Amino acid sequence: MNDVLLSVENLSKGFSSAGRRVAALDNVSLTIAPGETLGLVGASGSGKSTLSRILLRLLSADAGSVRFEGEDWLALNGASLRRRRARMQMVFQDPLAAFNPLASVGAVLDDPLRIHSVVAKDRRRDEIATLLERVGLSADYAGRPVRALSGGQRQRVAIARAIATRPSLLVLDEAVSALDVTVRGRILELLVDLQKEQGIACLFISHDLAVVRAVSHRIAVMDGGRIVETGPAATVVAAPQSDAARALVAAVPRLVTDPC
Ligand SMILES: Nc1ncnc2c1ncn2[C@@H]1O[C@H](COP(=O)(O)OP(=O)(O)O)[C@@H](O)[C@H]1O
Ligand SMILES: [Mg+2]
Repeated sequence: MNDVLLSVENLSKGFSSAGRRVAALDNVSLTIAPGETLGLVGASGSGKSTLSRILLRLLSADAGSVRFEGEDWLALNGASLRRRRARMQMVFQDPLAAFNPLASVGAVLDDPLRIHSVVAKDRRRDEIATLLERVGLSADYAGRPVRALSGGQRQRVAIARAIATRPSLLVLDEAVSALDVTVRGRILELLVDLQKEQGIACLFISHDLAVVRAVSHRIAVMDGGRIVETGPAATVVAAPQSDAARALVAAVPRLVTDPC
């Protein structure tokens, strides 16, 4: 089917810690259409990062299935997984954790272009300049070390790196949570622009409903490892049905009256 890019079915994952069993994910199902942004919101510990780590194949699931671009995503391994990873890219909260802080911005962006053979070798420099411009940075940032960048600039580089392989889906896990309010607003605008221009679908994960509301077409609410509510973003905010969604709305009183 063409109108489903990602489909997660009955995904479950448990952890044992200090002798207790925690159901981090309990029968989670969701879909994302091509070009759609699904916001995944929930309190800390509700299972959001467990889901993102399973989707990115950093963690295995106990049960359930994932179809992505028509493939049995959790069954992919080895070379076919490496090749297909270009199609689903991630942006995390702390991009420095993923980048070598001594590396230049150009090197950080060159990696995915080289590894996934996105463009010919002699085109990579131009492609890096294009990527930087696309995220609102000038081409001369390529020569700067990552550690010399501000938090907002680093997150722009992280987004440029994520879109370098021309993915159909970005998974953003608390991608703007560490940024101050003004910078956060600009990064959210950038994400919305990129999405409109390039039609990339996003799974946008945050504990903050106001942030999720700003970028999402639909919102899914997680609580205790389950998805307790899914609906159009405006509806979930204006008329939350679950206790968890009501609590998240109440935590951002401004949302109740904002017309947006
Ligand atoms: N590696 C792990 N070992 C033990 N428990 C974990 C591990 N990762 C996550 N958990 C637990 O699973 C639950 C969901 O965590 P997480 O997915 O990180 O939630 P969120 O991202 O919504 O804050 C929490 O109770 C957390 O403590
Ligand atoms: Mg998390």
